[in-house]
Amino acid sequence: MTTHDRSNRALAQRDLRHLWHPCTQMHDHERIPMVPIVRGEGAWLIDADGRRYLDGISSWWTNLFGHANPRIAAALADQARQLEHVIFAGFTHEPAIALAEELVRITPPGLDRVFLADNGSAAIEVALKMSFHYWLNQGHGEKTRFIALTGSYHGETLGALSVSDVALYRKTYAPLLLTPILAPSPDTYEGEPGETPQQLAARRLLELRALLEQHAHETCAVIVEPLVQCAGGMRMYHPDYLAGLRALCDEFDVHFIADEIAVGFGRTGTLFACEQADVSPDFLCLSKGLTAGFMALSAVLTTERVYEAFYAEYSAGKAFLHSHSYTGNPLACRVALETLAIFREEPVLERNRALAAHLAGRLAPLRDHPHVADVRQTGLIAAVELVADKATRRPFPAGERRGLEVYLHGLKHGALLRPLGNIVYFMPPYVTTTDELDHLVDTAVAGVERALRR
Ligand SMILES: Cc1ncc(COP(=O)(O)O)c(C=O)c1O
Repeated sequence: MTTHDRSNRALAQRDLRHLWHPCTQMHDHERIPMVPIVRGEGAWLIDADGRRYLDGISSWWTNLFGHANPRIAAALADQARQLEHVIFAGFTHEPAIALAEELVRITPPGLDRVFLADNGSAAIEVALKMSFHYWLNQGHGEKTRFIALTGSYHGETLGALSVSDVALYRKTYAPLLLTPILAPSPDTYEGEPGETPQQLAARRLLELRALLEQHAHETCAVIVEPLVQCAGGMRMYHPDYLAGLRALCDEFDVHFIADEIAVGFGRTGTLFACEQADVSPDFLCLSKGLTAGFMALSAVLTTERVYEAFYAEYSAGKAFLHSHSYTGNPLACRVALETLAIFREEPVLERNRALAAHLAGRLAPLRDHPHVADVRQTGLIAAVELVADKATRRPFPAGERRGLEVYLHGLKHGALLRPLGNIVYFMPPYVTTTDELDHLVDTAVAGVERALRR
């Protein structure tokens, strides 16, 4: 094999010789193909042998307007010819300035300060540290803890993992982590029979109130994924929970951190999920769709009140300390600006709603399937929960890896589906057509049948 051989097989072999991939037991690649992608086009990924895969998960929930989107690519190329990077301490540039202005304009009211970082987990680290440091600067150094929801996922750096509750990612590293206070999730799948999502949200708020009564004095913030707990299994809940959470955070003097890294930028039907509860958090974490899947960038928006607690003479030692070399990277900021221009100029949310309605129609019949316990959807996130026993909702044992069968079936039939355990979900790019969605759903349904037959 020479390096001129650019077939799937040759590239996969070279990959496996030196690379170590995320979220992967590398031994699996003794039987699962490594897929070398050479090109993207709209919602499609194209491998080195010319096979096409419809990207049903928007490449880890990042892509909005298609792969290699020409408009965004042109902005990126233009920026690269002007300024690729500059230290972001003491120096600034117009793409970052304009991006901050635009983010302040489009996010819920009161979020007037923007701190940039370069990936989702880093944004969570920033929000956690900033919340803690705010209370410290206010003379409340006793506030050192965070409340997170059961089933939450906020990333995999040590701080972000600390406030996450998905055992797969957390368990091994638990001895290294902070201990969060876990509040029961308002996840509707966990509701009592006959309980509406609203009633469940109200019950979960009472439980949160009890936790705050006990722990508010030592708590910096409550952190949640608004409306959909994505990596925890696309678990969804009623917006009332967010409204109630805002009120409780005000009452008990703790911050509200909204992690919209996965759900922001139109995923849930509104530009930001918090809009559906008409609330502004104290910290809003954004990434993924911020650059439509082009560049690593994240932003934490917060209030002037938080900012002012850090604003003092240098000698007071109150400055926020958190820096990444690539903070405020001009290429990423310019790409984000172009992404937001598309939101301004095109009817993105209307299109998404139509697409979401089509998806809902296609998934509805699955509710009657003997191994489907739940079909749920919020905007352009839809999930189908497979179970061994529908009546008791007994799950298939994780070790059976039924979802992997769906993944493998998808690869064979031109679709990138990547179930979370037994949960088959759809989170397509916004440019996906209804015909393409049909292909995705048909492939998933056939994959599920195959996985159930094993
Ligand atoms: C809600 C949420 N928060 C944080 C993260 C972490 O982002 P990143 O993978 O960019 O570190 C993710 C990633 O999936 C996420 O879904």
